[in-house]
Amino acid sequence: MAMTQDEMKRAVAAAAVDYVEAGTIVGVGTGSTANYFIDELAKIKHKIDATVASSEASAERLKSHGILVEDLNMVSEMSVYVDGADECTKFLHLTKGGGGALTREKIVAAVAKTFVCIVDETKMVDVLGKFPLPVEVIPMARSYVARELVKMGGSPVYREGFTTDNGNVILDVHNLQILNPVEIEEKLNNITGVVTNGLFACRPADVILMATQEGVKTIK
Ligand code: 5RP
Repeated sequence: MAMTQDEMKRAVAAAAVDYVEAGTIVGVGTGSTANYFIDELAKIKHKIDATVASSEASAERLKSHGILVEDLNMVSEMSVYVDGADECTKFLHLTKGGGGALTREKIVAAVAKTFVCIVDETKMVDVLGKFPLPVEVIPMARSYVARELVKMGGSPVYREGFTTDNGNVILDVHNLQILNPVEIEEKLNNITGVVTNGLFACRPADVILMATQEGVKTIK
């Protein structure tokens, strides 16, 4: 019988545990796939020193399992960061931020030696952009940034009723065909008022673990 998307998420989360090294600090992402990873990590929590979470929600889930969560400022080295994605390509470029945690995710990924991205096969695309690209914006810059995004050919939609863990807002940008993710990531980050955007291309994943009906595939 075919696996459901949820079963695939669970399978790939379990596979990511192989990348966790004993006696190290583990970076932990956000979202439903990352939640499964947290549940798997709980089974080997005695082997790791601590974790750093990319959101308040993940920190809560980690703590509920009795796993130590450290402030990133107290950590100078992180062996691995494990997180999901909304879209990914075979070049290891990602779109993230469906859950709105993109900025902290990018910060934790920047510190980690290895970024292991865990997805199910529905997330793999040829070209990023079908999933609306989340952009975190300082609230007072919202309309200005939206106008700049329109100039770039995008259709920004304000994520109503949502505030990020950093106290900012999100614009979800539709209709972008992201053929050159590194260039677009840099261009978006240069708009004044943008905190960060959901493209992970300048710092892509190092490994993608992708759950398929035939098992978990490794792309690197
Ligand atoms: C949250 C993210 C998530 O990794 C992304 O939205 C994927 O989520 P899920 O594992 O629930 O499909 O970037 O900001």
